[in-house]
Formats: sequence, structure tokens, C-alpha cells
Amino acid sequence: MPGASVSIRDVVVTYPGADRRAVDDVSLEVPAGEFVVFLGPSGCGKSTLLRTINRLVVPDAGEIFVDGNDVRGASPETLRRGIGYVIQAVGLFPHMSVAKNIGVVPELLGWEPARIDARVDELLALVALDPARYRTRLPRELSGGEAQRIGVARALAAEPRVLLMDEPFGAVDALVRTSLQDETKRIHRALGTTIFFVTHDVDEALRIADRIVVMNAGKIVQADTPLHVLARPATPYVEALLDTRDTVRRLSLLRVSDALSQSERSPGDAPAIAADATLREALALLLAGSTQLAVADRNGAFVDFASIRAALAASAAAA
Ligand SMILES: Nc1ncnc2c1ncn2[C@@H]1O[C@H](COP(=O)(O)OP(=O)(O)OP(=O)(O)O)[C@@H](O)[C@H]1O
Ligand SMILES: [Mg+2]
Repeated sequence: MPGASVSIRDVVVTYPGADRRAVDDVSLEVPAGEFVVFLGPSGCGKSTLLRTINRLVVPDAGEIFVDGNDVRGASPETLRRGIGYVIQAVGLFPHMSVAKNIGVVPELLGWEPARIDARVDELLALVALDPARYRTRLPRELSGGEAQRIGVARALAAEPRVLLMDEPFGAVDALVRTSLQDETKRIHRALGTTIFFVTHDVDEALRIADRIVVMNAGKIVQADTPLHVLARPATPYVEALLDTRDTVRRLSLLRVSDALSQSERSPGDAPAIAADATLREALALLLAGSTQLAVADRNGAFVDFASIRAALAASAAAA
């Protein structure tokens, strides 16, 4: 089932006794199928905003629509069955097998056992775990990365049209994290689910987002494609956020030759760039409106945003 559009309008959240708003008048229009990443420092309101979408947090003001329907119109239970939720502490039920864990929501929805079984196998395959080996395992018999995959599979079980992921890969090591990010992207491409993903890791955001929503002190400071956020930070705050994580510096150090993709086809009318130009220069050119740049004197080689992202991610993993 394809994703749902989500519309967040003038949402305000103030926790009892707090002297400032956790979410301070946030509006965001998300088209169906977009992969949105909330990025910002600890305490800026990312998780709170995320949890307003499935009403784990009830806003003091504002409205949220999923596919045009006010989320207040459905019971919280119905709403949450239609919205997958993955958190860092996976929260698998310790006494239930992997298959039982994944089948929790379908069972609540009254699916036939055979349909649940088939769905469990399909989801295990989707998260790249062999059903025959993993179905009957207990959560304590899984590695951290495997448990996270089961958490994702469980959240997808009832074919939600929206998936909320709150720092889902925070607890796994860098290598496993990268492969989980790649898998999440692959699943997103395959299913078209609308995804909201929270992180405070700039590199993770750059790697997976269609759109990055940068937050600070309860407000959205920039909501834009990774390319635009990198090349045109809206405020000094966004620039500093990227700089702290070294991304901009690395962009200035990495060369076009570090981010080459190879094409069989001729690049057509793509603008040319030198192999020793910096990725920062390449980004600036891409931003001027090209989808790829042909690398001068390298037959068929090109750079595009995906290859720049990959080079950045590789340099982050090596750091
Ligand atoms: N249940 C709660 N009761 C009271 N205050 C809360 C509650 N949850 C969060 N807060 C406060 O609301 C603000 C936003 O918290 P939130 O959890 O949304 O931040 P975050 O951006 O997800 O941070 P982190 O990256 O550390 O997870 C913080 O000041 C936090 O202390
Ligand atoms: Mg949080």
C-alpha cells in the first residue's frame, strides 16, 4: 500500500510545568511517500513532534492530517495500528518468538493465521533475514542489528502507510548502522511508505533523507533537500550544525574523483567539472539545476548527488 500524505499545521506542545514549548508552532506539508528526517540537537523537540503524528503526544494547539483525515477523528488504537513506530530500544516482547513479535498487529487486526505466517516470511525476507533461521528465535538470541531489523519488520507488518522511526539505529555500531540505513532506503523505495525518521546524526540524515527538517528549540529552521541544506544552509545555526559534524569541511576536502559514478551512456548535455574540483564546488554546480555533472577527461564518468552522498558517508565511516 503506498504512503499517506501528512499535514502538520501550527502544532504547539508544552509539557506540564515546562517553561518553554517543546514544539513551538510547527507546520510541515509532507507528500505521500516522502522520506523526511528530523535533525537537530538533543532536546530540540524531534521526538515530541514525531509522537504528535500517532498521538502518543497530544498537541496543545494545531492540527495533523493523515491523508486529509484529522488524526483526532480516529481512536488512538486505530490510528496507531495504521502508523508503524520504531524506537531505539526496540521493545520486542522478550518471551515471544520473532514470528510472534512481527505478527502482533496483524493478530490484533484479526488476520487469518496463514496470512500472518505468509506476511512474517515476506517481512523477514524484506529485512534480509532468512525466515527459516529466524522465525522461531527469541529476542535474546538476536544481535543488536538483527533486533533492529525485527523492530522494522514488526512496524511494517500491517502495511502502515506512515512509518515513524525515532533514532532506530542509535545503538548499533557504525558498519551495521550503514547497512540498516541502506536497507531502510531500499524498503522505502520498494513500498513507497511515508517515513519520518529522527536523528541527531548529520551524516545519517544526508544519507537517507528526501528532505531534511532541521529543528532547534522547538522550531523548524530549515526544511529542504539534503543538497540544499548542505549547499545553502538557511541560517548560521544550520551551517554550524553541519560544520560541527565536519560535513562541510569534508566536502571541501573530498574531490570529484572521490565520488565518481560510471555510465555507459554519454552524459548528454550535463555540465562538465574537473576531477580535482572539490565536492563543495560540485554541489554548487548541481544546485544550479543539473542532475549530474560529467567529469572532464574521464570517459563516461559522472558525479551526482547520490555519489556525493556515498563519498561523504564513506569518509565519515573511515573517520
Ligand atoms: N514526557 C515529558 N515530560 C516533560 N518534558 C518532556 C517530556 N518529553 C520531553 N520533554 C522535554 O521536551 C523537550 C523536547 O524533548 P524531545 O524528547 O522532543 O527532544 P529530542 O529532540 O527528541 O531530543 P533527543 O535527541 O535527546 O532525543 C526537552 O526539553 C525535554 O526535556
Ligand atoms: Mg528524541
